[in-house]
This record gives sequence, structure tokens and C-alpha cells, in this order.
Amino acid sequence: MILVTGGTGLVGSHLLYKLVKKHDFVRATFRRQHKIKAVRHVFSYYSEEAETLFKKIEWVEANLNDIPKLTLAFKDITQVYHCAAMVSFDPNDYHQLRQINITGTANIVNLCLSHNITKLCYVSSIAAIGNEDDTSNITESVPWNPEENHSVYAITKYGAEIEVWRGIHEGLNAVIVNPGMIIGPGFWRSSSGVLIRTIHKGLKYFTTGITGYVDIFDVVDCMTILMASDIQNERFILISDNLSFKSFVEKVAKHLQVNPPKKEAKHWQLQLAWRMDWLRHLLLRKRRRLTRNTVKSISTKQYYNNSKIKNALNFEFRLIDKSIKETCDHYINDLKD
Ligand SMILES: NC(=O)c1ccc[n+]([C@@H]2O[C@H](COP(=O)([O-])OP(=O)(O)OC[C@H]3O[C@@H](n4cnc5c(N)ncnc54)[C@H](OP(=O)(O)O)[C@@H]3O)[C@@H](O)[C@H]2O)c1
Repeated sequence: MILVTGGTGLVGSHLLYKLVKKHDFVRATFRRQHKIKAVRHVFSYYSEEAETLFKKIEWVEANLNDIPKLTLAFKDITQVYHCAAMVSFDPNDYHQLRQINITGTANIVNLCLSHNITKLCYVSSIAAIGNEDDTSNITESVPWNPEENHSVYAITKYGAEIEVWRGIHEGLNAVIVNPGMIIGPGFWRSSSGVLIRTIHKGLKYFTTGITGYVDIFDVVDCMTILMASDIQNERFILISDNLSFKSFVEKVAKHLQVNPPKKEAKHWQLQLAWRMDWLRHLLLRKRRRLTRNTVKSISTKQYYNNSKIKNALNFEFRLIDKSIKETCDHYINDLKD
């Protein structure tokens, strides 16, 4: 039987949708009960038989730091997709991020080893790939530079990968995927969903940073193909295209039929903005919305290379324009509900 951790997230829910179409039962972990209905909603985007497919999921409540509950979730499991993680760029979340992303992944790796799991697929991120000075052709083999000023999220995703590599040295069969910004519907309060919501509300400024984007179905397709293959102990960048933030925002605004931002956020404005945000946090105890590292990532031009996965699987990525359009269509429909 297959186990999916983080079944109630963007990646987990779409992976579950793909898996239950092929398998009689799939087990998934959840943390917060109320998030399960989001998965049912995601299924309803894609199938008339959403309810029948949804019933094939066996839900198990298990926090990544709760080893007894995770152990129960591993009963009779042969393959594991580890999608659960905390996504936050707020430096105040660093301790919790380490606890969930690094220690949580170490727990999954240890259980995979002790349960003789045949294969693990770990969802990492392009944030865990090094970028040194040359950001024009980032491949899987660019080394991580600990001297760089990384975001707290990146540090913990890298730390989690180290746990998977440690497991591999101890005999685990695993593959790691490093997706770029994932475009997909259903989760409008996290990841790219937040961005789509914000653009719909009206965004005043754009930045010129460039990064990799990928369709959610390309992510889950690559994961399942890798798991069915003989490929092991490798990491793969998953991106369809590298886009500037300006271009991404314009495409989303066009599909949502709202005005795109007209003004470019200048370097000094961004530097001022993150400091103001820090002050707001310090004085008013508000959560950080813009950090030094978020400013860096939305301003840096980073071009990711997807040749490794394309060659390994003979894989063609969906056009990112199509993914953006479909996700925006779901957003508009969800607003009507
Ligand atoms: N979305 C992207 O653009 C993107 C890009 C690159 C890599 N990734 C990676 O892809 C993976 C999935 O991301 P996503 O976009 O699906 O994120 P998401 O929508 O925020 O989902 C995260 C999942 O992890 C679960 N989770 C969080 N903390 C947990 C804990 N302590 N114990 C157990 N489960 C916990 C969440 O449960 P709740 O539902 O209860 O919160 C949720 O099911 C993550 O590893 C992320 O780093 C995402």
C-alpha cells in the first residue's frame, strides 16, 4: 500500500487524485481535520466520480513529529511519498520549520528504513539547490553554499534533503524532486494560491526577479513515473519554464481580468519595505510578510535547468501559460461558490 504524507496540501491532494485513479486504496496522513474537505473539493475539479475516488483514501491523523502515530500510519506500507512540510519564510518560524521539515523528515526516513519500504519519493524544492554567483543555469549539481544568506525555509528544505541522503547511505531507495513555484488550484491561502488571490485583489508593484514555475500535474506525474522506474538516489529539478515575476503577474492578471501592476518596485523601496515590515512585527507583534530573503528571492534572476528530468523520463512539461489559465479559471469559479 502507498502512503502519502501531507495529503491535505496542494501537492498531496493532486498526488492522491492521481494515485486513487490507479489503486484501490491509498493511505494519507492529515494534521488538521478541516483541511480534508479541501481535498474533496480538488477532486471535484477533475472528475464526475470525485466522491467514489475520494472514498479510496484511508486517512490517518499523524503529525510529522508524532512517532507513535506515524508508526501506525506505516502499517503495511510499501511505498512512501513524503509531501508534508511547513512552508514559511518568516525567520520567527525557524525553530518550528526545523522541527517539522528536518526532524519530521528524519522521522519519515527512519520509519522507511525500519519498515523496509521499497521506495521513498521526497518533495524538496528549488530552494534547496545551491545558486552560487552564476544564476543563469542552475542544475541539480550546483553545490549548496552554507555561506550564502538563505531563507529559513531553504535551510530547512536543504536540511531535510540531507536526512534523505543519510537514509540513502543507510540503504534506503529514494528519489528527490525539487519543484519550482507550483501552479495549481484549490489552496488559495498558501503558496502560489496566495499570489493569485493577491493579484486578484490588486497588486501595485512588480519586481523583475526570475524563477522556475511548474504545473501541479507535471509535479505529480514526474513523482509517480520516478517511483515506478529503476531510477534511485537522484534529485531532479521540476520546472516547466523560467519566468520573471512581472511576466507571471501579468499573465495571471490577464486571466483574472484585473489590471496588472504598473510600477516596478525599486531596490531601495524593497529594502525599505522589508525593514518596515520588521518594525511592524517588532512593535505590533504582526507576522512577517516581507523579509530580507523574500525580497532577495523576488529580485534575483535565477534560471533553473530542467534537462535532467526531461532526459531521464523523456518527459515534456505542460505549457505554463495553460497552467496559469486553468488555475485562474478554478479561482474564478471558486469565488462564485
Ligand atoms: N507549493 C509550491 O510552490 C512548492 C514548491 C516547491 C516545493 N514545495 C514542497 O512541496 C511540498 C508540498 O507543498 P504544498 O504546496 O502542498 O504545501 P501545503 O499546501 O502547505 O501542504 C503542506 C502539507 O503538509 C502538512 N503539514 C504541515 N505541517 C505538518 C506537520 N507538522 N505534520 C504533518 N503534516 C504537516 C499540511 O497539513 P495541514 O493541511 O494540516 O496544514 C499539508 O497537508 C512541501 O514539501 C513543499 O516544501 C512546494
